[in-house]
Amino acid sequence: MGTLPSAYGADQTLAVTLEDTSAKVILSLYYTVFEQANVITRRAVLTNESQEPLVIRRMMSMMVDLPDLKFDLYTLDGGWIKEAHLHRRPVEYGMMTNSSTTGASSNRHNPAFMLATSTATEDHGHVYGFNLIYSGNHASYIEKSGRDIVRVAVGLNPHCFEWSLGQGESFETPEAVMTFSSRGFNGMSHNMHYFVNEHIVRGNWKKRERPILINSWEAFYFDFDDGKLVQLAKKAKELGIELFVLDDGWFGERNHDQAGLGDYTVNKKKFPRGLKAFADQLRDLGLDFGLWVEPEMVNPDSDLYREHPEYAVGHPTKKPVKGRNQLVLDLCQKAVRDYIVDKVGAILDEAKVSYVKWDMNRHIGEGYSIALKRQGEFYHRYILGLYEVLSRIFRDRPGILLESCSSGGNRFDLGMLCFSPQIWSSDNTDPIARLKIQAGLSYFYPLSSMGAHVSQSPHQQTLRATPLSTRFNVACFGCLGYELDLKHLTPEEKKEITEQIAFYKQYRRVFQYGTFSRLKAEKENKVIWQCVNQNKTMALAGLFQTLANAAEGEERLSVKGLDAGVYSMRTRPQRLHLARFGGLLKHVSPVELNPDGFLLRQANRHYSLADCVEAYQCSAAALSFGIPLPNQFTGTGYNENIRMLGDFGSNLYIIEQLNVEGENDE
Ligand code: GLA
Repeated sequence: MGTLPSAYGADQTLAVTLEDTSAKVILSLYYTVFEQANVITRRAVLTNESQEPLVIRRMMSMMVDLPDLKFDLYTLDGGWIKEAHLHRRPVEYGMMTNSSTTGASSNRHNPAFMLATSTATEDHGHVYGFNLIYSGNHASYIEKSGRDIVRVAVGLNPHCFEWSLGQGESFETPEAVMTFSSRGFNGMSHNMHYFVNEHIVRGNWKKRERPILINSWEAFYFDFDDGKLVQLAKKAKELGIELFVLDDGWFGERNHDQAGLGDYTVNKKKFPRGLKAFADQLRDLGLDFGLWVEPEMVNPDSDLYREHPEYAVGHPTKKPVKGRNQLVLDLCQKAVRDYIVDKVGAILDEAKVSYVKWDMNRHIGEGYSIALKRQGEFYHRYILGLYEVLSRIFRDRPGILLESCSSGGNRFDLGMLCFSPQIWSSDNTDPIARLKIQAGLSYFYPLSSMGAHVSQSPHQQTLRATPLSTRFNVACFGCLGYELDLKHLTPEEKKEITEQIAFYKQYRRVFQYGTFSRLKAEKENKVIWQCVNQNKTMALAGLFQTLANAAEGEERLSVKGLDAGVYSMRTRPQRLHLARFGGLLKHVSPVELNPDGFLLRQANRHYSLADCVEAYQCSAAALSFGIPLPNQFTGTGYNENIRMLGDFGSNLYIIEQLNVEGENDE
């Protein structure tokens, strides 16, 4: 059975050993200091030295008492396609719980949370951050006592948990993580980002730039064959994409979500030449090859289930409950773990896969394993089994970039980040929805860990139509990918995506590993994000508008954290597509065009306007205070210097110190 992952590269660890001499039980507490990150972690190990069995029903990883500073509690809550929404509530007398019981760290309540003084802002105030290096059921308790002490406890969820220790046996908790900043939420986030990049993510992909990918899922779902995929790959390559990811639907009878999970042999109808030949062809095109798997699951309609129904989680005499038509494979069983390691390992080697998307698409409702005598161990042993399988598969294949996923961000946690340097943030790729999701995740997780893709507009879940520029401007604050059918792109869109990809390649180190901050926007309908390079000589700022307001007052864009000096600030060139104007075009066009006619459609395919061309020179101090931007235009006429954001419009600003060359790296 696997062991718990933990942070590494610490400065020092203090071990405190406590002994209950009458019960003959030893409790060891480990406090580990990560000085540069401003992080202290704690975990606990309980050892039974008596001859009597010791039953553990609740054992937390850490507990701390804080004097009440009029705290607010901030948690990241949600569900499928609305992960990590930030919620705030005052800490009152009594106890509040932030927990998961779904078998995963969950999209309901991420294990990370903050306590902040009620006046704290992004840049000011005292903020305590907490997290847990664990991917299963977690619980944190925040309790304010009558003596105005706020007690915080973080650890495994005691729900359905019971663990028995025989003589000489030990139980180890997951490692809890704590940080503090007097520089507001951004200060806390900077600590956590540094901690994840330095002390959690490990292996070949540590601090390495992540490839730009195309993913087949939103382009085709299950409806593809090798010919269709090769077409997608060729188009992707032309645009500058580096990695092709074959998502769900490539194996067994997986032509829909009711069959095939568990059978990791290639579907011969879709791939008559086999998977290796297909992957080789992609490599010949100059693309790396990545593959989706969901190894923890099985469909009842699969060869694996027909042969081994006992591999599935569930009570032997009760009808199992399905989620997305699937059952969970019982990772408490060694035979199941061996099956997954062999099957997945073989396919990765055969097709020389360089990236894996490891998915997990349901909650675990019936924690029962035929391999266990004590079912109270199920949920924790499941996660230990998962960690074992991941390390056995990927330890010997260090070149593979692993991106974990659980219906999007249902398992976005520090435990998974010890194995997978990046995680798919959400199945919701609508950029306006992503402003909340990525901002929520960014409180604790660095941009290098967040998968973020440009997808189709109107969007599949919200039916919201958004400009291609905004879809990119949001996705580049993360690990960029594209997830749409490229076949129907207009020539203008192709040019635009080619430019986006070239731009991202130039600045990806700053996006992925620079210092990311959320800026307080003065207006309700704006979101501002920025990344500053390591030398503090350049920054990238994204200004996003949700809904447009008529006759909006002056707006300012401030950029913080740069070294003193004079800077140029300019908008990233982006395209304004003619179709956005519809019938309004007649006011600027020499000939009157039918807004729904052939001519305008053709014009839209082949022409676009330059969108918001702005350029300034200013000092770092002025940038920090805020540069007034031209008013958004709502009158008549158009020229390229006019800011026309409209609903869901956005701009990226490039801010570079003048007379400093070659400094726009990390
Ligand atoms: C989950 C993932 C998606 C996709 C599908 C495939 O929903 O989050 O990105 O891989 O599964 O079934």
